[in-house]
Amino acid sequence: MKKNFILMIKKILFPFSLILFFCELVLYKFFKIRNSNKSYQTMIKLFLLSGGWSNGLIHNLLKKKSIKDLRDNKLNLILNNYEKNGFHLEENFLTLSETANFKKQINQLEGYWFGDKIEEKKKEIFNRNKIKSVKFYYEANDLIKLDFVKKLIKDENILDLARTTLGCEPILSNLACWWSFPSDLPDKKSAQWWHFDMDSPKWVKLFFYLEDCNEKNGPHIFIRGSHKDKGIPYSLRKKGYSRLEDEEINKFYSENDIIEFKCKEGSLLIENSRGLHKGKKLIEGSRLMFNLEYSSSLFGDVSEIHVNHHVIKELNTIKQKQYIFQNLK
Ligand SMILES: [Fe+2]
Repeated sequence: MKKNFILMIKKILFPFSLILFFCELVLYKFFKIRNSNKSYQTMIKLFLLSGGWSNGLIHNLLKKKSIKDLRDNKLNLILNNYEKNGFHLEENFLTLSETANFKKQINQLEGYWFGDKIEEKKKEIFNRNKIKSVKFYYEANDLIKLDFVKKLIKDENILDLARTTLGCEPILSNLACWWSFPSDLPDKKSAQWWHFDMDSPKWVKLFFYLEDCNEKNGPHIFIRGSHKDKGIPYSLRKKGYSRLEDEEINKFYSENDIIEFKCKEGSLLIENSRGLHKGKKLIEGSRLMFNLEYSSSLFGDVSEIHVNHHVIKELNTIKQKQYIFQNLK
């Protein structure tokens, strides 16, 4: 009874939420004023109703045209794969000496343990002999201090991948790195249940494999084609922006389209995580993953990345880069 009443109130208020949403879109477009959480919720609601069409519309309104002409055969092939399947896998993107260098640098950073059974916000240095949860997570504000990360985010090849897949000038919207470990049950908070991401109207995620990944140490899984408009059926969308179980997914997708990425260290997976995906629960070993996220705008729910003044100065030396690094504060 109470639930029905809340639903009815929400329906009555929806036209007002839409008005606020359009006003905030205009404010972002012309004055770069960031939106409220209410408008972010409306963006998600529109996605659930339209199946993705609304995101395309918002993206087209807010994007900045690419500064480069990217008609290159290799990039065209990547784009074809990305648009058709929702991902592209590039093997040997990083050399083993580069991944070793990254791991050496990351070991000096503090992070925190994370998962359904733990609520730890106290940062500490990672200790492989004291595993406390499913996930050990490094924050963007810390990762950006590493020389290796600064080098990667300035890399023109990576920026061209983001430009090509987004179809516009990219904005670095997030970066993350985490260790994963075995558990008894799939962990909801650690994204081991099926879900789609939705932080902004359009984005691309670049997953860098820092260790080999096989079927036992938690391969990433993605449903081919589910990134497209209406790629997630309404029966699943109507459950809202939530985690889903295997049984629900198996009703709608064929086994052939559920792709498990077993990758070698140094591989790069470029993914449109608007499609359904999850990290498979680990049976043994560990997995270390680094992730860069580029978006076509900061509309939605994108957290600022806080960096030291010198880092901003260093990254913004080239004027064109100021747009890309506008989320670094
Ligand atoms: Fe995700």
